[in-house]
Amino acid sequence: MTALAMVAEFDDVAGWTADAVEQLGERHAIPAACRGSASPAALAWLAEACELAPGVRLLDVGAGAGGPSAWAAERFGVRPILVEPMPAACRAAVRLFGLPVIEADGRRIPLRTGSADAAWCLGVLCTVRDKAAMLGEIHRVLKPGASLGLLVVVARGPQLLPIPDGNHFPTRRELRALLTGAGFDVVEEIGRLSQAPRSWSRRAEQVAAVVATRHRAEPAYALAAHQGERFTRLFASGQIAVRLIHAVGRPAAHPFTPPWRNDERPRR
Ligand SMILES: C[S@@+](CC[C@H](N)C(=O)[O-])C[C@H]1O[C@@H](n2cnc3c(N)ncnc32)[C@H](O)[C@@H]1O
Repeated sequence: MTALAMVAEFDDVAGWTADAVEQLGERHAIPAACRGSASPAALAWLAEACELAPGVRLLDVGAGAGGPSAWAAERFGVRPILVEPMPAACRAAVRLFGLPVIEADGRRIPLRTGSADAAWCLGVLCTVRDKAAMLGEIHRVLKPGASLGLLVVVARGPQLLPIPDGNHFPTRRELRALLTGAGFDVVEEIGRLSQAPRSWSRRAEQVAAVVATRHRAEPAYALAAHQGERFTRLFASGQIAVRLIHAVGRPAAHPFTPPWRNDERPRR
């Protein structure tokens, strides 16, 4: 993932979001830091499907600024561990929520085989070309039979409008094949749940307004906004859609421990 627009969207904006939350107050943190995952209803569906509970070690791959993990920790008492390649997003997750974050690529997670009780990967797969590698790595780090909660933007047919830079939307059929190939069985899949309530979206919008006021003139802001506009048009035209998926990992025939495991310590 090297597209300049994605760095703007996932790194610059994450840092600006943390700054804006500091101005507006911590009640704004979770809605503003849920970048791909949308509504509390979607998070609740994923949390219930994965049977999250106090003490569960939840691996969040492509965690961004940490909103979904912070929500799961607050509501379900999980112990999240975040993996995110963008440095400013990692710093934002630490600043906003004090969560443990590993700055790493989701295709090479520096954690032990079978060390996580559950995993989330929300709004990430469409930004990764080698989806099989990422899913295979998540499967390795999960305990056998553990749950994976996914939020994936899928293609509903050919995309005739311009695609946001760096995105590769799988079809539902391709996604199923990728999950099966990586060692997951799909338990359940649904479309997007209801919109976030105004109380939630208002706080996210207030943070976005502060970010716009401070950074509108910067090239990175324009790039990130352009990405968002392309997403909006693709969703509105029905060419892409959100799916929520609960899958469980099949036990691996030959558990594999790669050389990069345990290389890194969380920032916190
Ligand atoms: C749409 S955001 C979603 C962030 C977060 N999951 C959420 O729901 O708020 C996509 C995230 O995936 C991350 N990402 C992209 N490529 C990745 C990779 N190869 N490994 C791990 N994360 C990646 C991006 O940096 C970004 O933070």
